This record gives sequence, C-alpha cells and structure tokens, in this order.
Amino acid sequence: MFRKITFLGVAVVLSVLMTSDAGLAANPITIKFSHVVAENTPKGQMAIKFKELVAERLGDKVQVEVFPNSQLFGDNNEVEAMLLGDVQLIAPALAKFERYTQQLRIFDLPFLFRDMAAVEKFQQSAKGQALLSSMESKGLVGLGYLHNGLKQLSCTSPIKVPADASGLKFRIMTSDVLAAQFQAVHAVPLKKPFSEVFTLLQTKAIDGQENTYSNIYSKNLFAFQSYITESNHGVLDYMLVTSIQFWMSLPDDIRKEVKKALDEAILYGNEIAAAQDLADKEKIVSSKQTEIITLSDAERNQWIEVMNPVWLRFEAEIGRDLIDAAYQANM
Ligand code: LMR
Repeated sequence: MFRKITFLGVAVVLSVLMTSDAGLAANPITIKFSHVVAENTPKGQMAIKFKELVAERLGDKVQVEVFPNSQLFGDNNEVEAMLLGDVQLIAPALAKFERYTQQLRIFDLPFLFRDMAAVEKFQQSAKGQALLSSMESKGLVGLGYLHNGLKQLSCTSPIKVPADASGLKFRIMTSDVLAAQFQAVHAVPLKKPFSEVFTLLQTKAIDGQENTYSNIYSKNLFAFQSYITESNHGVLDYMLVTSIQFWMSLPDDIRKEVKKALDEAILYGNEIAAAQDLADKEKIVSSKQTEIITLSDAERNQWIEVMNPVWLRFEAEIGRDLIDAAYQANM
C-alpha cells in the first residue's frame, strides 16, 4: 500500500514538474488584442506587426490573437471586457477614455495641435508620458501612444464656415469635449460606436461625421458623403492599454519582451500613419465620389474662433498647465 501511494505521489510530482518545464509551450500566455478598425489602417497594421514580432521572439511562450473590426468587442464594452480579463490589449481612440480619466480630454480640444509633429512632441514629453499612468486607479495601464492622424469633417452638404454646419447631425466618439465642439457651431452631436457609423450614414440618420482619411477610406464612409472638409480640426490618436492585473501577472522577462515588441510595432504603425493619410486621401479623390473642400485662412480662422471657448470650458478638469504644455509643442 505504502509503495503504491509513494509511486502515485512521485507520478503526480513528476507530472507537475513536466507541465511547468514544458511550461508555457503547453499553455502559452494568450494576448487577445481587440480593436474596432479595418486591417488596412495604421492600427490594423500595427496589431499584425505586434503579433509577428511576438511570434518571432517569444515563440510558443506567448501568442497574440488579433480581432479587428469590432469582431470581439466594440467601443461600448472593450474596456470593461479587459478589466474582466476577456481581452488583454486594446487601443481605443484617446476620446474614448473619458469614463476613466478627465485628463486625456486634452487630446480632443479643437485646433490645439497644428500637426502630427506637435502631437508626437507632446506625447513624448514628460507630461505626455505621465498621462499613460492617468488611469491606474481604475486598473488600467497605458503602454504607449499610436498615431492615426488629424480629423476631417465629412458631410452630405458642403461645409466651409461654421454656419454651414448649423442644425446638422454629426456622429462623434464618446467625448463631452467633442460634443461641445459641435454644439459650438450649433450642430447636433450624436455619440455612437464606430461600428455603427456606416449604417448611420447609409440610413441618413446622421448628416456627417469627423474622422481621419484612413478611417473614412477603409470603412467606405465616403460612399454617402459628397463632401469632406479638410479641416484638420482635431487629432485621432490611440493609447495602447492593458489591465494592471494582467500586466503584472506576466513574468518579468516576458513582460519586458512584450513591451519591446509593442514599442517596435507602434513605431511601425506611426510610420504607416503619415503615409496612409496621404494615400487614402488620394484614393478618395480618385474615386470622384466625394469632393474635398480646402479652407482659406479666413475660413479656418472662423472655426478656430467659434470653437475656442471649448478650451475654457474644460480647462479646470484638464489643467491649465497641461493645456499650455500641449500648446507649446506647436512651437
Ligand atoms: C472612431 O470611433 O471614429 C475611431 O476612434 C475609430 C478608431 O479606432 O480609429
């Protein structure tokens, strides 16, 4: 009897040892990366690059599964899903974090950044980097920023000056700053998930929306929009986010390699972003479906003037010093 028990005991210990030895190969750590855009976008391409780099460097210890196009989770539930451990990596637009921090609202202030170089400069500054930790009390850790580009206004009617937008319905991301921006021109903002924009336009439930050229092109949003005003009025960038619980559960060496792969994939995505913005604009122009309206300095100044009070309205929550630092990035 004793010999039987001892034999069984040894077998159990051996099998535990073998499992942990074959270790992660038998049970790889899975990182589900969920996002809402198409694969032929800066974020879509960045996600694929990250998957490839992890496969190359961590072999069968870690596997990345990418779910584009809101396939797994969408705007309304991706952060909650991550906090529940159903997904490990997401990259929402900065406008979508308002339930978790007020500080990231800085990125939605209209006409704050002159170009993407200024956005990059601010994000890489000490103040910009500190914002990556702004949601830690909510269990979220920011792992880096990813660019898409500056937003344009698409619409069924031509828009040149703020008065042209008056009374029209625009889909926006879930941000009170963006709502205030459209209210400033007496338009009607509707907060809706990205996955619904195409249908909202198709059914004429909305007149227009604001987005980057790559999102407008890859989701065919221009199909129902005769005009795009090249307003460059705001930025659409992302934060790569995971849950602190998941992040800290990774062995140190693996966390380091995953972060390295992520940083490289972000650089790759950022390189694509600038080129894709131009290329997708060109594709929209060549389609001849949609006319691109450029603004004169005088027209653009009208938008800046009418939207400027939005800054003041959100100054207390965002912080004057943060707004000043972001503004300085234009210099
Ligand atoms: C949007 O909702 O319009 C964008 O945030 C989608 C995206 O992730 O680029």
